[in-house]
Amino acid sequence: MPETIALPSARIAPSILSADFARLGEEVRRVTADGADWIHFDVMDNHYVPNLTIGPMVCEAIRPHVDIPIDVHLMVEPVDALASMFAKAGANIITFHPEASRHVDRTLSLIRESGCKAGLVFNPATPLDWLDHVMDKIDVILLMSVNPGFGGQSFIPETLNKLKAARKRINTHLQRTGHIISLEVDGGVKVDNIKAIRQAGADTFVAGSAIFSKPNYAEVMGQMRDQIMLADTSAD
Ligand code: DX5
Ligand code: ZN
Repeated sequence: MPETIALPSARIAPSILSADFARLGEEVRRVTADGADWIHFDVMDNHYVPNLTIGPMVCEAIRPHVDIPIDVHLMVEPVDALASMFAKAGANIITFHPEASRHVDRTLSLIRESGCKAGLVFNPATPLDWLDHVMDKIDVILLMSVNPGFGGQSFIPETLNKLKAARKRINTHLQRTGHIISLEVDGGVKVDNIKAIRQAGADTFVAGSAIFSKPNYAEVMGQMRDQIMLADTSAD
């Protein structure tokens, strides 16, 4: 039965959207030393989402400061040209919103051919059906638990049901093909809800404000890992 497959070990991916941009190099070094698994890098274009952030030049600038994967979350439309630029700028994982690409299968292939892992991002109201014919080309499924565009929003509880549905699809696919797909969640992840999010099936946890708003990043990430461990060891 797919449900009996153990969850992959958990990763914490701090979102630098909430970091101090005036000291970004120092921030990414510090959060990495404090135990981050991936650096989550939010790219917004003031077109696909109503906010504007950072581009490939900033990715290239932080690349020498960290030895962990850089997880680029593209909230941009169109996708392809920027995806290629981020691959060249040192990204390791590139995810995009399927509604923002005219040819989803082509964009996934392009990202993988550039040497990166590829993933699709699902807004709260976007159905998982986009996965139906591209599971073989996906390394990461990223579920938005807020509407994209801003840090510091509240977790949308319906995401827990969607996580369970995505985990089911991943496990069925794993059993059929042996292909491992990560299940990432992004938005409103905190110490007090991460246990329920883990229990719903997530393995990669993006957290921005929860980590960067606190003076001690190691302490927050340690508390998050404790909650994840509780989820993994409790039956409820
Ligand atoms: C929102 C971004 C998130 C955001 C998460 O569009 O994709 O990565 O930074 O921030 P928090 O953890 O503060 O909700
Ligand atoms: Zn993000």
